[in-house]
Amino acid sequence: MARELKDLDWKHIGFQYRPCDWRYVAQYKEGAWQEGGLSADPNVTINECAGILHYCQECFEGLKAYETVKGDIVCFRPDLNAERMMDSAEYLCMPKFPKEQFLSALRETVQANLAYVPPYGSGASLYVRPYMFASGPVIGVKPSDEYTFRIIVMPVGPYYTGGAKPVSVMVSDYDRAAPHGTGHIKAGLNYAMSMHAHEIAAKGGYADNMFPDPMERKYVEEAGGANFYFISGDGKTFVTPKSDSILPSVTRRSLEYVAEHMLGLKVEERRVALSELPEFSECGMCGTAAVISPVGVVNDHGKDIVFGKGLAEAGPVTKKLLDTLTGIQLGTVEAPEGWIFKIA
Ligand code: PLP
Ligand code: COI
Repeated sequence: MARELKDLDWKHIGFQYRPCDWRYVAQYKEGAWQEGGLSADPNVTINECAGILHYCQECFEGLKAYETVKGDIVCFRPDLNAERMMDSAEYLCMPKFPKEQFLSALRETVQANLAYVPPYGSGASLYVRPYMFASGPVIGVKPSDEYTFRIIVMPVGPYYTGGAKPVSVMVSDYDRAAPHGTGHIKAGLNYAMSMHAHEIAAKGGYADNMFPDPMERKYVEEAGGANFYFISGDGKTFVTPKSDSILPSVTRRSLEYVAEHMLGLKVEERRVALSELPEFSECGMCGTAAVISPVGVVNDHGKDIVFGKGLAEAGPVTKKLLDTLTGIQLGTVEAPEGWIFKIA
């Protein structure tokens, strides 16, 4: 039987909040996670002194559900999101949300909102946003005793408006994360830190920032919403910045595997100096929301570094990476073992 679909303009859906019918909610109280369940209420009511409101004790995740060519509804490597959220929680002194409960809550939430999963071929997907915050009151700086975990979903198109078309980014004068801070976890506070820099980039017409390393400002870290990768001048090596203060992107880790095992490229995870950017033939941003967004131009303090055909067209390796990654997610390319989590 054909799946019921909401009447939405799937091809022009944008990347924006759109409340769906159901969300998952679970509470942590008296030292344990309670059994969670679905709720129709999009609003959250919390105490005026809740830890999230004062000391920003919060972390989140981002993943997507897709309709495949066969009509299945699947998620891409959600076990890695569950694990990363546990790492984020641990660093922020929050209770870990158990992996099995994360995966069953994900299944329950997507299944309840199946009519919002964009149809195969539309280019859109269902964005899934699990998040957890301190909902109990605290006034001294300390971890809260109570937490709320929720999963919301919404159909989305590409995050960077270029989609598969190249965009430009600028090297930022600001830091997104401190050298021994929270850059390696997915904490909302990192995004608050990058907001000012993001506004400057957006006003200049840039899709995002290229943040340099906060210690020496010589090496590439990441973008406000994605990791970077580069392709060597001879097109044979996939290079991605190594740093303790960037988010370990699920997409980037997957692309490293795809590059090495499916496209026959050499893979290097190492420090990438800003001064060596002109030597690369391609540059891209990668992430769940970003998918792969080719970068045609990096503006480094007024000087444009242009990759391949610049903003006109993505490079050949980027095209292959994008086709293979989206093929795996949509079921047209065979997925490596364990990458696809079937929901329906
Ligand atoms: N880096 C930052 C700062 C992000 O916000 C994201 C998005 O989640 C990523 C990288 C990409 O990570 P992932 O591929 O796990 O979505
Ligand atoms: C994601 O890709 O899931 C993110 O959280 C990035 C964010 C900038 C939307």
